[in-house]
Amino acid sequence: MARHFLALHDYTKAELDGLLALASDLKGKQKQGVEHHLLKGKTLAMIFEKSSTRTRISFEVGIYQLGGHGLFISSATSQMGRGEPIKDSARVMARYCDGVMIRTFGQEIVEEFAGYSDVPVINGLTDLFHPCQIMADLQTVIEHKGAYTGLKFAWVGDGNNMANTWIEAAAILGFDLILACPHGYEPDRKVLAWAQAQAPGRITLTSDPKLAVTGADVVNTDVWASMGQEAEQKEREKAFAGYCLDDTLLVLAKTDCVVLHCLPAHRGEEISDSVLEGKNSVVWDEAENRLHIQKAIMATLMG
Ligand code: CP
Ligand code: NVA
Repeated sequence: MARHFLALHDYTKAELDGLLALASDLKGKQKQGVEHHLLKGKTLAMIFEKSSTRTRISFEVGIYQLGGHGLFISSATSQMGRGEPIKDSARVMARYCDGVMIRTFGQEIVEEFAGYSDVPVINGLTDLFHPCQIMADLQTVIEHKGAYTGLKFAWVGDGNNMANTWIEAAAILGFDLILACPHGYEPDRKVLAWAQAQAPGRITLTSDPKLAVTGADVVNTDVWASMGQEAEQKEREKAFAGYCLDDTLLVLAKTDCVVLHCLPAHRGEEISDSVLEGKNSVVWDEAENRLHIQKAIMATLMG
């Protein structure tokens, strides 16, 4: 049976650490021009039901650098968009391809797809989780801070797919995470309950961004309205007043903290231009690391 990458909770700390180590090794090889065709002749199908810049490019370039080929499939121009059942699409694609990456809405869609797929399925973002992004973020933190252990991680903003995935990461890997979310925009209740049971005392939820950011080593935010929530933009802008990661808020964090944002960013909403472009921001390294960690994930699952 194929092993999938749908959510961090399917992986142990040792396995996630292994992926991070492989990503660092592959990054070194790529920078030095050392050949690393671990997936020679293999094909990755990349299904997109939502927009993407980073995920699409990093997966396509990543599979190419591993000696394979990436196939971009938009749901709008495939039979999936016309209602062909997921279970049929999954079984057909597994006959052609060696792996599938999906970006879609409900987590149950990737789970159903994986349930019918004989080849590995990778979650390229759902409404619930964004596991590839959090792995890239962890790689970035390790590069800048040496390790993720012993650090205080702060999340400011929506309790969205990114927040949910950070919660799982904190529980599995064992670091302190404090999330500041407005009332009504908290992370997924089940995910939080699972994580708090796994790692008692590690994960704190507040509605006070100042409390979250104070003394933090890693400060992370994301858009207030995620893909699929565009109609709620105005109402969310009101609810998230006071949650902008700007200089006044960031001054409360450690002076050598790193600022993460998965991008795309809305400057002047969840993050100020000065913070995004400032000395603590590592967002370009973070974006680059999508390439390296996804190569590690593909090589491990599809190799
Ligand atoms: N961070 C991220 O997943 O970016 P894209 O939506 O551009 O893929
Ligand atoms: N939370 C955002 C992340 C985009 C990469 C979204 O789901 O749209």
